Amino acid sequence: MDIDRQKKIKNPPQSYWLASTDTTDYPNLNEDISADIVIVGGGIVGILCAYLLKNEGLNIVILEADHIVQGTTGHTTAKITSQHGLIYDKIKSQMGIGLARQYAEANETAIHEIKKIADDNQIQCDYVPQAAFVFTEQEKYIQKISDEVKTASDLGIKAEYVEEIPFPISIRAAVRFDNQAQFHPRKYLLALAQNIYNDGVRIFEQSRAVDIEEDNNYVITTDKGKKVTAQKVIIATHYPFYNKPASYYTRIYSERSYVVAIKAREQYPGGIYINAEDPARSLRNQVTDDGEIILVGGDHHKTGQGMDTTKHYETLMDFANNIFTVEDIPFRWSTQDCMTLDGLPYVGQFTSDTPNLYIATGFGKWGMTNSMASAMILRDLIIEGESPWQDVYNPSRKTILPSAKNFIVENYNVAEQLLDGKLSQLPKDIDLDPGEAKVVKIDGERIGAFKDDDGNLHLVDTTCTHMGCELNWNSAERSWDCPCHGSRFSYEGEVISGPAVKPLKFSNDINTLERLLKDEY
Ligand code: FES
Repeated sequence: MDIDRQKKIKNPPQSYWLASTDTTDYPNLNEDISADIVIVGGGIVGILCAYLLKNEGLNIVILEADHIVQGTTGHTTAKITSQHGLIYDKIKSQMGIGLARQYAEANETAIHEIKKIADDNQIQCDYVPQAAFVFTEQEKYIQKISDEVKTASDLGIKAEYVEEIPFPISIRAAVRFDNQAQFHPRKYLLALAQNIYNDGVRIFEQSRAVDIEEDNNYVITTDKGKKVTAQKVIIATHYPFYNKPASYYTRIYSERSYVVAIKAREQYPGGIYINAEDPARSLRNQVTDDGEIILVGGDHHKTGQGMDTTKHYETLMDFANNIFTVEDIPFRWSTQDCMTLDGLPYVGQFTSDTPNLYIATGFGKWGMTNSMASAMILRDLIIEGESPWQDVYNPSRKTILPSAKNFIVENYNVAEQLLDGKLSQLPKDIDLDPGEAKVVKIDGERIGAFKDDDGNLHLVDTTCTHMGCELNWNSAERSWDCPCHGSRFSYEGEVISGPAVKPLKFSNDINTLERLLKDEY
């Protein structure tokens, strides 16, 4: 890699979606209140659910731990497509054509619904219709592409087998879906959030839900001790912060993936693309006030595990350089996705015994249409008592082989991480260069030390506050990440993403941290 590129890629990660929109400033919850429905989580699912349910005349509260549309939704590639890799033939083979049809109809309907909401609310969100492609460079995927074209066509999707895409990549085959789209997710969702807020939906930011109790109604408690009482609750927090009485922590794992936004000498030819094989490589463009950028996405690994995370950006840059004449890298960012064992989301009743508690999670890397589909499913379940797509998304469905194998692998992996952290032999010193971090053991305690660019030391207890796994340093994002269920913490110990709800013990001074470590939480 040349020195100039190395310098550019060292710039701190920043999402274009966040950089090109204003930060929101909704109030904190500072009193006890009640509502018909409380939605926990102010990402795309929470806002779309609030929009649809407000239109049914219900009184809605949204509780957001940080600021709305800043987490996964603020770090997506924002492809509005029902083409989720080669998914339809897989669902057909594992679960039957009926459930494959439900998934296709839900996601195709979602594409149109997203556009309709933009039109009805007069939202300018850089919406552009696009064709979507899954391509392969490998012989062994040709038959899978062919099968996908047939199954998708049988399900009513406009799908076509093609042998070329407009890039210097030696592809063997591709499946093309027409009538797909892309947009700017924050322009869309911030405008929609403002509209529903003006219409009476109460949105509270920096109001983290930390507990749910069931009495006659549900009572949600925030980190500031304030309570919201509601008949119904939707958990739309990405990874669920609440597990009782379900078993989501053994059925969902977190993965991180990466985007570099480049400026290229060549003009982008249109279309949204992803490959069929690993490692993932995806492409789309975005017109900005400062010209066109091309989003080159891919690479993935379990959160808190794997190699030095900065390497993933470098790998994507190598891929970009093979296709384009790269002139600049104005943005780069990473995101976190919740993965389920059979690759399909969990949307519906939290468990079959909790008729008024709902969840939407596990979208894999396909959150745009699945979020819209989730909002429609939850609206229908709450208002009508049923949804035409409830079976394929049912959180209580039986996971079918071969995905059951994933259950054993993923849970073995969590147990391994719990054990691993406790037994590590760790360095004794904390000599660090600016920008560097390491784990040190002091008086038997495992401490994460990070030195910032100004030479200040930031020390945390690296035991995850969720269930006690040991955290690992994420060099690209400068965060402490949990290898078990994907919680992430800033180098000052604040929760970036759950399921953890409590911060890490933190200090700039080793003596103070040692004192804190001796205290009980
Ligand atoms: Fe579960 Fe850390 S996220 S132990």
